[in-house]
Amino acid sequence: MENTLLRFYMDNRKHLPGIVFIVGISLLSGILKMLSATYWGRAVDYGIAGMVEEMLAAAVLMAVFILADCVRTALHYHIIGRVTEDMFLEVRTKAFEKIMRGDVAVLESRFRTGDIAVRLNDDIDFLSIFSASHLSDFSRRIFSALFGLVACIFLSWQMSVAYLVILPLSLWMVSAISRPVQAQSKSSMDDTGAAMGLASDMIAGALTVKAFAGEEVLGQRFDRAIDRAYGQKVKSEKLAMKMTGVKYVATVMQTMCLFLVGSYLVSGGKLGAGAFISFVTLSSYITVALEHSDYMLLCARKAMACALRYYEAVDIPDEWQGVARKGQNEVPCEAGNLYFSYGTGGAAAEGGNAVHGGSGAGPALADLSLRIPRGRKVAIVGASGCGKSTLIKLICRFYLPGKGNLALFGVEAADWEAGALREHMAIVTQDAVLFDGSIYENVAYGNPAATKQDCEDALKEVALWDFVSSFPEGMDHAIGEGGNSLSGGQKQRLCIARAMVKKADLVLLDEATSALDFQTEREVQDALDKLLAGRTAVIIAHRLSTVQNADYIYCMDRGRVAEEGTPKELLEKKGLYYEMCRLQSV
Ligand SMILES: Nc1ncnc2c1ncn2[C@@H]1O[C@H](COP(=O)(O)OP(=O)(O)OP(=O)(O)O)[C@@H](O)[C@H]1O
Ligand SMILES: [Mg+2]
Repeated sequence: MENTLLRFYMDNRKHLPGIVFIVGISLLSGILKMLSATYWGRAVDYGIAGMVEEMLAAAVLMAVFILADCVRTALHYHIIGRVTEDMFLEVRTKAFEKIMRGDVAVLESRFRTGDIAVRLNDDIDFLSIFSASHLSDFSRRIFSALFGLVACIFLSWQMSVAYLVILPLSLWMVSAISRPVQAQSKSSMDDTGAAMGLASDMIAGALTVKAFAGEEVLGQRFDRAIDRAYGQKVKSEKLAMKMTGVKYVATVMQTMCLFLVGSYLVSGGKLGAGAFISFVTLSSYITVALEHSDYMLLCARKAMACALRYYEAVDIPDEWQGVARKGQNEVPCEAGNLYFSYGTGGAAAEGGNAVHGGSGAGPALADLSLRIPRGRKVAIVGASGCGKSTLIKLICRFYLPGKGNLALFGVEAADWEAGALREHMAIVTQDAVLFDGSIYENVAYGNPAATKQDCEDALKEVALWDFVSSFPEGMDHAIGEGGNSLSGGQKQRLCIARAMVKKADLVLLDEATSALDFQTEREVQDALDKLLAGRTAVIIAHRLSTVQNADYIYCMDRGRVAEEGTPKELLEKKGLYYEMCRLQSV
C-alpha cells in the first residue's frame, strides 16, 4: 500500500520538482526557527550582562530570521498552489480518460457509478490537499523538531535529559485520551455517511418513494441514522473537550518541570538564562511535532488509501484493441457457433488474449449462428432475457466472444481497432441514454461534423420538431440531467435523431420505438425506413408489428437461434414466431 503513494508521485514526476522544492524550503524553516530561538537567547544573555549594542544586534538578527521565515511561507504558498493545481488537473483528466478507455466488462462488473465518482472527486481531492498542504506542513514540523532537538542537545545536555524524561509522560496522557476520540469520530463519520446515502437514494428515487407511500418508513430510517450520527458526534465532542483539558494540564506540567530543572541549573551557574529561554522555545517545536504525529500518520495512511483506490479505478485494463482499421468484405455481421457468458472480466484483464466468456451464470449466447448481409433489415425477436441486447453488445465489440466466430465486415471482432469499427455503426440502445446539455448538443453528439441543419432535419424526421420549436431557445433548450425533462418517447426519438445524423453503414436499434404510442411509432417508423434505405439494420423489437417488413427474422430462445426466415416463411412455419405473433394478435 505504501508503494501506491510513491507510485502516484513517480507517475506524476513531471510536477515532482515543485513539491521537492517545497519540502526543501521546509528544511529552511527548521534552520530559521533554530537560529531565531538561539539569537533570542543570546539577546537575553547580552541584556543581562548590560551589553546593549550586542543585545540589539542579536535582536535584529532574530527579527531578520523571523522575517525570512515569513517570506519562505509566502513563497511556499505561491509555488505549491500552482504546482498542485497543474498536477491535479492533469491527474483528473488522465483518470477520466483512462476510465473512458477501460474495458466495458470490468467497468460493468467491478464498479458502481457512485463509487467511480467518489474516486474521481473525493479521493483525488484528498491527495491534492495532502500534496498541497499536509506534505509540506508535516515536513516543516518534522524539520523544526529535528533542528530543535540538535540545538537543545548543544544548549544543555542536562535539560535535554530532563526533557526526554518528562516528554513521554505528557505524550502518553494526550494519546491515552485521544484514542477513543479517533474511534468516535470514525463511527460518527460512518453514521453520517449512512444517513447521507439514504437521503440521496430518497431524493433520486423520490417518485418511487411517493408512489409506494414510503415517505414515513424511509423517513424513520433516515431519522434513526441521523440520530445515531448526532449521538456519536456529541460523544466525540465531549471527549474532545476533555482532551483539550488534558492537553493543557500536560503542557503546563511539562513546562513547569522544565522551568524547575532550568531554574536549578541557572541558579547553579550551569546554564545561561538566554540558553534556558532558547531551550524552552526549541523544545516546544519537538513537543508540537510529536503531538501531531498521530494526525500526520492518519493523513499519510488516508493518502495511501486514496492512492490505492485511485489506482484501482485507473488500472482498469484498456479495452482490447486489434489492428484492423478496414473491413475485408461488405457483410456487416456473420456469426458462427458463437458462445458468450458474462462475468469473466475483460479481455485485456486476461492477459490480452482477447477472450471473454467461459464461467458465470450460464452462457447468454450459446451456439448462435447468423448472417446479416449488407443493405438488409434483419430483425431479432425473442423473449425477455434471451440474449438480444447481448448480441448487439458483441456486434459493437463492447464484449468479445468467448467461443466461435464473429466477423464484422469480414474481420474477426477481436482483430478490429474498436474506434475504427464503431465508425461504421450507429446505435439506439434499449435505455435511452442522453446527456446533460442542449437538444442540439445531444443530437450532434452522434456526429460532431453534423451542422445545425442536419440536426434540424433529423429532429423533423423523428417528429420532434414541433416540440423543439415550442421552446423560445429551440434546439438550444437544455434537457437536464440524463434528459430528465423529456418524456420516455421524446427521449427515444432524440436517440434515434442522434443515430440518424451519424449516417452509418450499420444501424443497431434495440427496442428503439418501444416507448412510443401507435401513431408516433408509425411516424418514426416511416422516418426510420427512410434512414435505413440502403443501409444495413439490426432491429430488436418486442412489438412484432414493427418487424413485419424486415427482410429476415432471427427468432432467439435462451441464447440460440430457434428459428430463422423471412416473416412470411416464419408465419407459414407456424412455429415459435407464429405463436408469438398470435399472442400479440399481429
Ligand atoms: N451486464 C450483465 N452482467 C451479467 N449478466 C447480464 C448482463 N447483461 C445481461 N445479462 C444477462 O444475460 C442474459 C441476456 O440478457 P439480454 O440483455 O441480452 O436480454 P434481452 O434479450 O435483450 O432481454 P430484453 O428483451 O428484456 O431486453 C440475461 O439472462 C441477463 O440477465
Ligand atoms: Mg434487451
